[in-house]
Amino acid sequence: MREIYVHIPFCARRCSYCSFVSGFSHSEMPMYVRALVREIDNRLLRDDDISSVYIGGGTPSVLYRGAISLIMSHINRRAKVRKDAEITIECNPDSVTPEFVSEIISAGINRVSVGLQTTNDALLKQINRPHDLNGFIRAWELLAPIDNKSVDLMLGLPNQSKADLQNSLKFVAEIKPRHVSLYALKSEEGTPLFRSGFVEDGDFEAELYDMAYNFLVSNGFERYEVSNFALPGFHSRHNCGYWDLIEYYGFGISAHSLLNGKRIANDDNFNKYIVGTNVQFTEGSDPKTEYLMLGLRTKWGVNLSRLYSYGLDLVKDRGDKLNEFIKNGYLIRNGDTITLSDGAYYVMDSIISELI
Ligand SMILES: C[S@@+](CC[C@H](N)C(=O)[O-])C[C@H]1O[C@@H](n2cnc3c(N)ncnc32)[C@H](O)[C@@H]1O
Ligand code: SF4
Repeated sequence: MREIYVHIPFCARRCSYCSFVSGFSHSEMPMYVRALVREIDNRLLRDDDISSVYIGGGTPSVLYRGAISLIMSHINRRAKVRKDAEITIECNPDSVTPEFVSEIISAGINRVSVGLQTTNDALLKQINRPHDLNGFIRAWELLAPIDNKSVDLMLGLPNQSKADLQNSLKFVAEIKPRHVSLYALKSEEGTPLFRSGFVEDGDFEAELYDMAYNFLVSNGFERYEVSNFALPGFHSRHNCGYWDLIEYYGFGISAHSLLNGKRIANDDNFNKYIVGTNVQFTEGSDPKTEYLMLGLRTKWGVNLSRLYSYGLDLVKDRGDKLNEFIKNGYLIRNGDTITLSDGAYYVMDSIISELI
């Protein structure tokens, strides 16, 4: 069983904080899509068993009509996509049109992730989002035929107050998505935000996160990963696959794959990609570190026997640290399983680094 990620590196415009590989000229879209389906045809194993597809970016909804159907038809032609596969597309509100919605439904897409970030129009403008709150509401209404929808929110935006976040959360509770991703703003090098000298305020972000956590939990959402909350049964199966080290194909520039135990990265050179001379790099892979780092971020935690099978005997090799964290209430041991306690999410990175 494998998953598929498809990268679409186009956006209406660049948000001030974003460092994802995107922002290429829209006139290059047809060339890119041709190269993408060529890569799918060349690399996707015939009859491979596919449990989920995720079309992300960038902003897949800015593609011209027909592109998503073409990509999906190439995937379906080669692989065996399961009947109950989760098939997600990311979109920005401003590029959701009635034609987009009918195309994705006929292409078999059954889950949508929409970037809202905040309901405050002044903040949306400040971070250079191409939509306002009304634009989001219009898109949400158009997307009504798709039940499994997720909303992205951000916390720690410049000048974002607690009241701003509270308003965004209240709005989200009213529109009732099945899933919410909550991202703490990171000032990434090379972005206009970074160049403006903005530095995150970790303590304030923690306060905002705490507030959002309490709000979402009291509205029926469960935190199943640090940044991800879902109503029962609506966690992102695709992302859970990554955290569980399921193998996946990554198609498109800069996309990563995990295949036959090896991590492979596509080059991010757009011009080389469209002429078919894209290079792939094999990256080092260390399942014990990856499993520990990714697993502890989830509510399912990590399994000691599985870690042992990857070469780490946590009880023997890190016994002192493990017991200390359990005694301090940061980690919980339940038989063979170790999970992070609710209060430990703020110190998660240092706990993980001490266990690796
Ligand atoms: C790569 S975007 C794709 C979705 C879509 N393009 C959008 O912006 O709505 C996925 C999400 O990553 C988050 N994100 C991007 N850059 C970030 C940053 N520097 N810090 C925190 N979250 C970020 C945003 O919440 C965004 O919705
Ligand atoms: S956050 Fe989304 S819309 Fe904004 S630049 Fe990044 S990928 Fe594009």
